[in-house]
Amino acid sequence: MAPLTVEGLHQAFTAADTVVKAIDEVGFELREGEIYTLLGPSGCGKTSTLRAVAGLERPDGGRIVIDGTLVAGGPVFVPPNKRDIGMVFQSYGIWPHMTVFANAAFPLRVAKVPKKEIRRRVEEALAAVHLDGYEDRMSTQLSGGQQQRLALARALVRRPKLLLLDEPLSNLDAKLRAAMRAELAALQQEIGVTTLLVTHDQDEALSMSSRIAVMRAGRIVQEGTPREIYQRPASRFAADFVGTTNFLDGVRCDGKRVRTALGELDVPGAPAATAGDAVLLAVRPEALRLHQVRPEGVPNLVRGEIERSMFVGDSVECHVRVADVVWTARQDPELPVASGDEVWLELPAERISVIA
Ligand SMILES: Nc1ncnc2c1ncn2[C@@H]1O[C@H](COP(=O)(O)OP(=O)(O)O)[C@@H](O)[C@H]1O
Ligand SMILES: [Mg+2]
Repeated sequence: MAPLTVEGLHQAFTAADTVVKAIDEVGFELREGEIYTLLGPSGCGKTSTLRAVAGLERPDGGRIVIDGTLVAGGPVFVPPNKRDIGMVFQSYGIWPHMTVFANAAFPLRVAKVPKKEIRRRVEEALAAVHLDGYEDRMSTQLSGGQQQRLALARALVRRPKLLLLDEPLSNLDAKLRAAMRAELAALQQEIGVTTLLVTHDQDEALSMSSRIAVMRAGRIVQEGTPREIYQRPASRFAADFVGTTNFLDGVRCDGKRVRTALGELDVPGAPAATAGDAVLLAVRPEALRLHQVRPEGVPNLVRGEIERSMFVGDSVECHVRVADVVWTARQDPELPVASGDEVWLELPAERISVIA
């Protein structure tokens, strides 16, 4: 049985006389123990979807099933406290006037769990997020990362079937955020709780998720593993939103070749492709191979001129003028390139995404 199934979800809001379709026919299903991520730009409906799953909002249409129990759909609407979920909000919602213990114990107190049982379960939850020993501290004495973990402990203290995380790392500074990605993903795996994560941060989504759903304007436009989403984007939007991409328009010659303004290029084989179809080619900056001398016998070469090269530490980012557009190529930082250099860009066929 799936920990969470969402089907045909709809939610519209009316603000200043205009109707916004915040959620427009959204459906997905979580697998046991995974981190499933809704990724998309601000305003695409991520939080609205999470709030509907949590029961903080009643959807206009669709069904939500948590571990086999219908919680929203038709006349059924189960309130948040009766759903088997734990949630961490963007702001954490930690109470500053309470100790760590009191914060984590709060959901159990509300649920009128006996005192002895509360102590046992709070200690267990704090140990799970590596905050044991901090019980008597005031929550304001914790660092940002520790507060984040306390919010997680509080969400887990009722041992929910499902953990909901809304932009859980966005309050932290850049360096801590990167460290907490690994820590949070490791904690989630240790605890084994199925997690629905919402973020607009592509690095966070790529590094933490089992699977990602890319959202745009209230809809899921692509679902896949981080690798599939990054390496095989299904649309210009997905390619553009997740990482940097170079685009090139073309027309199919056959299943393995595409004609472009820069010549015919080999692309990954697609036996079912129809000649004459318009396609969009997408190539990641790190997939391009930059040659300073034209190599012999190499297919898929495109001539360009270095417009600018920027040393960024672990790589050099080259802006290369190709015909009338500028491409980005990420290369080894030792590459001796300078503005004005004539270069040859090799597009390895297997690294080209063909978007219909
Ligand atoms: N309570 C509300 N009233 C009016 N509009 C809302 C409300 N909640 C969300 N919206 C609108 O719905 C859309 C989706 O919002 P949201 O789910 O918060 O997006 P995200 O979390 O992806 O940034 C936005 O256009 C937002 O302005
Ligand atoms: Mg949001």
